[in-house]
Amino acid sequence: MIGVAVVGAGHWGPNLIRNFHDDPRSEVLWVIDRDAARLEEVRTRFPTVRVSKEPAEAFRDGRVDAVVVSTPTVTHYEIVKAALASGKHVLVEKPIATDARHAQELCERALAAQRVLMVGHVFLYNVAVQQVKRYIDTGELGRVYYASMVRTNLGPIRVDVNAAWDLASHDIAIVNYWLGTEPVSATAYGGAWLNPGIEDAVFATLRYPDGVLAHLHASWLHPRKTRDVTVVGDRRMLTFDDLSLTEPLRIFDKQVTDVRTTPAFIDTFASFRASVRDGDIIIPKIPPGEPLKAECDHFLECIGSGAQPRTGGQEGLAVVRALEAIQRSLRQGGREEKIA
Ligand SMILES: NC(=O)c1ccc[n+]([C@@H]2O[C@H](COP(=O)([O-])OP(=O)(O)OC[C@H]3O[C@@H](n4cnc5c(N)ncnc54)[C@H](O)[C@@H]3O)[C@@H](O)[C@H]2O)c1
Repeated sequence: MIGVAVVGAGHWGPNLIRNFHDDPRSEVLWVIDRDAARLEEVRTRFPTVRVSKEPAEAFRDGRVDAVVVSTPTVTHYEIVKAALASGKHVLVEKPIATDARHAQELCERALAAQRVLMVGHVFLYNVAVQQVKRYIDTGELGRVYYASMVRTNLGPIRVDVNAAWDLASHDIAIVNYWLGTEPVSATAYGGAWLNPGIEDAVFATLRYPDGVLAHLHASWLHPRKTRDVTVVGDRRMLTFDDLSLTEPLRIFDKQVTDVRTTPAFIDTFASFRASVRDGDIIIPKIPPGEPLKAECDHFLECIGSGAQPRTGGQEGLAVVRALEAIQRSLRQGGREEKIA
């Protein structure tokens, strides 16, 4: 049985508590939160779980094998560092830290301590996202030209990090995973209307190797909840709507035929139609399942086997590097910023 302490029982933490509580391989021994009201709620729902405002109390408990961190992003580095120093495996919510040097240091500490360090990039445990990776890897889409990702809602409004760190962190993790690489540069514009210096909406473009582009629109100041992704390849195109429970993916058998074969001057509707292929739209069957459960399963498996997690510290670090470049570009009025 793997003993778990969850630090942070705000909006997201209870989902992690539930998953580790329900899994027969793990037992939630402690929940830590500095808000007494949150602890009271936990005590009511899980009477056997010990609660405290102080993470160190749980980290001292020898029965605790793993620490799950779901506190605001600015607090991750110190809490994860302390957990690793106490010899615990760590699952930390995304993004891993607000500074790439801190993220790098956490990776090194985990390696030295031989502990699992995993980041909660939950979309990489989403079956539809995994299916898209298969389409890309097997050439179903052909050469990928670009991805467009829209992640909006009205709230929740953060005060520690901006909309890019909070929301676009998901999309960066997804595109890095799909392409199996990291972006080389970022440009971004944004607006901070509600809190000075904290962008409520960010419009960023990441440039990946081979000229692939990813455009990210992340906003918590928007009338509609949207989770829309489009991937355009030279053979096929697809859309991914994470809000659709039953039909999240659509594959469009659409393609622009070789433009060199089209007339130099296209002046009729018919000749324009001849330059594109407009075939079937396929809706693949995606089995239902809670991505967070798959993520928690994976963490427990990695602790058991010693395997590297799919979203380990290094993958988390890559996301932070891209976010830092977005941040620099925002401060520089949209200048293209290289990612080392
Ligand atoms: N994977 C996802 O889809 C997803 C969704 C939402 C949030 N998140 C991530 O989860 C983390 C938490 O987000 P949230 O929405 O639950 O935030 P939240 O503000 O609702 O909750 C954070 C909780 O942490 C507690 N806390 C703050 N500092 C603490 C400290 N030093 N020690 C102990 N407790 C402390 C607060 O009292 C609060 O209850 C963030 O990193 C966020 O990015 C991930």
